[in-house]
Amino acid sequence: MTSHITVRDDDYVIDQNWAGYTADEHAVWDFLYRRQRDILADRADPAMLQGLETLNLNRGGIPDFAVINEELKARTGFTVVAVPGLVPDEVFFTHLANRRFPAGQFIRNRNQLDYLQEPDIFHDVFGHVPLLSNPVFADYMEAYGKGGLRAMKFGRLKNLAALYWYTVEFGLIETPKGLRIYGAGISSSKDESIFALEDPSPNRLRFDLERVMRTAYRIDDFQQTYFVVRSYDELFRATVDTDFAPLYERLADGAAYPPDTLLNTDQVIARGTQAYAKAKAKA
Ligand code: PHE
Ligand code: FE
Repeated sequence: MTSHITVRDDDYVIDQNWAGYTADEHAVWDFLYRRQRDILADRADPAMLQGLETLNLNRGGIPDFAVINEELKARTGFTVVAVPGLVPDEVFFTHLANRRFPAGQFIRNRNQLDYLQEPDIFHDVFGHVPLLSNPVFADYMEAYGKGGLRAMKFGRLKNLAALYWYTVEFGLIETPKGLRIYGAGISSSKDESIFALEDPSPNRLRFDLERVMRTAYRIDDFQQTYFVVRSYDELFRATVDTDFAPLYERLADGAAYPPDTLLNTDQVIARGTQAYAKAKAKA
């Protein structure tokens, strides 16, 4: 479903070619959509669920970016652009800095419904796009893109990537009804949506910028630690009001914490047993 696409230059943007999706591809979207909608009803941040509705991502079938973008652009100035898959860091940051979110054009096939390595349109659009309709979160994403271009100059992309990982992909947020999911890596995953909130294994710690940027993360399995923000405003202020230059100087010592570390300076919301990771390590 990708090879015939020819429109492409160095921004990696391709035509979504919405008319080219097959009935089965639309059916895969619908299956995943309904499954996650049910799991997330009382687990996702209401702002994310609101975004799904606001942007009409629930209308059935793979969303047409041209249609989503009308509403999204009016709300926050963001647009979604199609890309073939992962794009180089600089390309990714440049898109975000210009309020464009690059989303995978392809959808997973039926024998990979639960897990795939490359971000597809379900992860990118169901997971990431709803919160782009939230003004504060949108501002954060743009700032992150600009911050990424800056981090490249400092050679500290690894630390900045950890910030993205533990917020945009695997972040939790405190709400009056308890912890909720906002990270797209969680919200687009059937099993991690439950694990992140309900399993006793992972640590759940209050978000702290430098702590997060020093923490290693797992790309092959559920996280061993989740960081919790009080609000997107807190996240925005903590990152945008901090000049990362002195921080990058400190981080240059290279000290990194393994993904399950607990420090005595951590504000612990729930101390994890790490039973899940320990059992996996033995197996
Ligand atoms: N304030 C950061 C800097 O000085 C930029 C940034 C903002 C990074 C928001 C991430 C998120 O580099
Ligand atoms: Fe993602």
